[in-house]
Amino acid sequence: MEKTIDESKQGTSLVLDTKTKNSRKLYIESYGCAMNFADSEVVASILSEDGFSTTQELNEADLVLVNTCSIRDKAEQTIRKRLTEYNKVKKTRPHLKVGVLGCMAERLKDKLLDEEKIVDMVVGPDAYKDLPNLIKEVDSGRDAVNVILSKDETYGDISPVRLNTNGVTAFVSITRGCDNMCTFCVVPFTRGRERSRDPQSILEEVNELWANGFKEITLLGQNVDSYLWYGGGLKKDFEKASDMQKATAVDFSDLLEKVALAQPKMRIRFSTSNPQDMTLDVIRTMAKYKNICNHIHLPVQSGSNRILKAMNRLHTIEEYFELIDNIRKIIPNCAISQDIIAGFPTETEEDHQDTLRALNYVKYDFGYMYMYSERPGTMAGRKMEDDVPDATKKRRLSEIIALQRSHCKIRTEAHLGTVQEVLIEGPSKKSPHEWMGRNEQSTVVVFPKEQYQVGDFVNVQMNSCTSATLIGKAVGYSENN
Ligand code: SAH
Ligand code: F3S
Repeated sequence: MEKTIDESKQGTSLVLDTKTKNSRKLYIESYGCAMNFADSEVVASILSEDGFSTTQELNEADLVLVNTCSIRDKAEQTIRKRLTEYNKVKKTRPHLKVGVLGCMAERLKDKLLDEEKIVDMVVGPDAYKDLPNLIKEVDSGRDAVNVILSKDETYGDISPVRLNTNGVTAFVSITRGCDNMCTFCVVPFTRGRERSRDPQSILEEVNELWANGFKEITLLGQNVDSYLWYGGGLKKDFEKASDMQKATAVDFSDLLEKVALAQPKMRIRFSTSNPQDMTLDVIRTMAKYKNICNHIHLPVQSGSNRILKAMNRLHTIEEYFELIDNIRKIIPNCAISQDIIAGFPTETEEDHQDTLRALNYVKYDFGYMYMYSERPGTMAGRKMEDDVPDATKKRRLSEIIALQRSHCKIRTEAHLGTVQEVLIEGPSKKSPHEWMGRNEQSTVVVFPKEQYQVGDFVNVQMNSCTSATLIGKAVGYSENN
């Protein structure tokens, strides 16, 4: 799972229980990061109040919504291909309406209506509450667009329905948007300015999840460390807040503590962390509460200071290493994972070697590695030539992946011989006789089912492994059960 992107889930359609009064059928498909999957649950919740029930059968849909990703060109191409599939269905179901949601909707706006004839509706990530109105427009034969970005929408007042859930793990959004303006990244343009969600509504959602049997949550944001609640409004307007608001503000480590205390048996994860904003307070809070899992997803992007600067990542590699050292000092068994981009404009062989050196320094547990993809409208897209040849990008990427793989193996092997708590998420993909779960560090563990059930916390003896999966045997319930 990319902190966020789970390749195996890309494009899955999502279903929830049918409300009998709801006669129209919605087919909703999600691509991209976990935030999109979480947003689709908000969308399904809004539309379940508007006469829709969800279906997994494209052929019986009255409305198709596709929640899209713009992060790399390939993500957009995948979605364009998918639209041609919907087009085929429309031939036999002429009343079928198609809406594009999410980042591609926001990036391309009404251009999408011209470029893709199949599309009836274009809805940006802050406009989902307007969906019932937009659908009315579409029903009356007009195309509908709402791509207005908001300074305060967090959907905090909407209780998301859980789609295709394993009943054990769930995402909880805590911030929307991003103010960081990394020069390669389209997110600040597609998801708008950064704002945080009311901690009270976050706690209510977490408590409700626990009451419904969920055992693990992942707090989601483009940059969770930047979370700041001072009564609502944009992060950038904090300096204008009153003294009272400033004194009672809740930052990310405060929020983590509140959530950890609210449900002491719930496993808590969060994603994504940002090296320039992560504080020692956050690491200390992680160390203080047993139920906060010892895993930090801490994208590095590049090991070269020159490239980090060109990316507008506001830290040096030495500062990044210092943060890693502090994490290891405070939480010795903390798993750390990365995102890296190979072939950012002007990247030299020496810069690439710096990235390999960074990998060797940290020896990440796992990571997500990409070739640079120029995004129109971003600073790098406008000001820098995409000058690293494709073949070079590919070669550098494969060197990065090979090195990461060797580190992943070392990290996985280090768990051998230990007994660790695993939360059972469901059957293993390979064998119906085995459970799949994760340890605290997010390493996947498989073991024979025996008497255990989905959602149980089980102590597992780690006996063998592949490079990224531990194979074990349960030795009893954990004390958390
Ligand atoms: N802060 C976000 C980052 C979203 S993008 C989060 O919650 O994860 C996820 C990763 O995609 C980034 O960390 C970066 O490594 C990669 N990425 C972003 N823009 C990219 C681009 N233009 N080309 C290649 N990779 C990119
Ligand atoms: Fe993108 Fe950088 Fe924000 S990667 S989401 S602009 S932290």
